[in-house]
Amino acid sequence: MKLLPIVPAIDEFADFAAFARSFALTERDLIFTSGRTYRRFIAPLQLPCAVLFREDYGSGEPTDGAVNAMLAARDGVHARIPGGVGRIIAIGGGSVLDMAKVLAVAPHGTADVNELYPDMASLARRHELIALPTTCGTGSEVTNISVIFRTALNTKHGLVGDALYPVHAGLVPELMDGLPYGVFAASAIDALIHAAESFLSPLATQETMARSCEAIRGILTGFAAVAENRDALPSLHGQFLRSATVAGLAFGAAGCGPVHALSFALGGKYHVPHGESCYQYFLPVLRYYKARRPDGERLQELEALLRDVLHAEDGFAALAALLERILPRKPMSAYGAVEADAAAFARSTIDNQQRLLARAYVPLDYEAALAIEEECL
Ligand SMILES: NC(=O)c1ccc[n+]([C@@H]2O[C@H](COP(=O)([O-])OP(=O)(O)OC[C@H]3O[C@@H](n4cnc5c(N)ncnc54)[C@H](O)[C@@H]3O)[C@@H](O)[C@H]2O)c1
Ligand SMILES: [Fe+2]
Repeated sequence: MKLLPIVPAIDEFADFAAFARSFALTERDLIFTSGRTYRRFIAPLQLPCAVLFREDYGSGEPTDGAVNAMLAARDGVHARIPGGVGRIIAIGGGSVLDMAKVLAVAPHGTADVNELYPDMASLARRHELIALPTTCGTGSEVTNISVIFRTALNTKHGLVGDALYPVHAGLVPELMDGLPYGVFAASAIDALIHAAESFLSPLATQETMARSCEAIRGILTGFAAVAENRDALPSLHGQFLRSATVAGLAFGAAGCGPVHALSFALGGKYHVPHGESCYQYFLPVLRYYKARRPDGERLQELEALLRDVLHAEDGFAALAALLERILPRKPMSAYGAVEADAAAFARSTIDNQQRLLARAYVPLDYEAALAIEEECL
């Protein structure tokens, strides 16, 4: 049993310039980010670093093809720079951070990221990775997993290993400026789900539960303020970033569960963004737990926390109402799902997601998964 997870050093910076000064970036550092973030925050500093742009390697969540093209680009930069690439500085959402994790561990000359999966245990760090999130969801800046869509298998798959931990996570609230509201909302809900699923996980410890609670409190008080006044959001960027990172620490140790397990079939088939596909199943899974195990102690603790934070008599109802104000939930059919998907998704979840299903608060079998899928249609 892992008592203390290995985690990166976590620092907060007033702005990107303060980060750049603190890390004394040089020509051997390789920055990986979007053109938008580069133009707005990095170009004005005229840093000597090499840069790879996200847009040059596909769009959307990372695929093996996009990662392979990036690996070739990294090797090209490595060959060009005197002394080779030193550190990799990844600045972006979970997609950018997850791609950068592969760049940090793949041996030079790796042609296909799929080659790394069979022997994940032997992955070693080739470059120090410094991760700066620009969304407030995945917690990827403090986890040892990179989630890549593997084309031949037609599914997302986590590449996991301690070498994938970033060495530093840098929290810079101004990097969230310009984040579209919908991406903010979905990513913050993803972080909330990390916190809730890790809180209910059988692997949770006092240590991880304290982090889960801290993240839930931070995200929900932030949501309540945003629901009242959306203009308050920029002043809350730091709170949301910190909460997402703390949720990452919690689920990095205690794991996520059925909400994430269920999300993959929908997300994979209809390319629903990760936060939205998880949101689809979050409330139905909580309701399922409550129906099956109303006297469950940990579930009651979660409800009590929700009552306290949301000043409500019914914690789950208040949570549903607040989330609806932050991001109205669409039925699965709005993403293109049809009736036949319910059974196929339930089957795929049971067949492919046992690792996550093992962290369920109440076991979820095919019938239970099917009922949830049908409810979501
Ligand atoms: N490694 C982990 O621990 C972990 C955990 C959960 C999810 N994930 C993965 O992370 C990915 C999702 O990451 P995400 O939710 O952060 O979204 P994302 O990285 O896919 O970004 C979503 C969109 O927002 C844009 N964007 C990001 N930051 C912006 C900013 N500050 N301003 C303007 N636009 C911005 C991106 O360019 C993109 O178009 C998925 O692939 C998911 O599987 C990884
Ligand atoms: Fe997630």
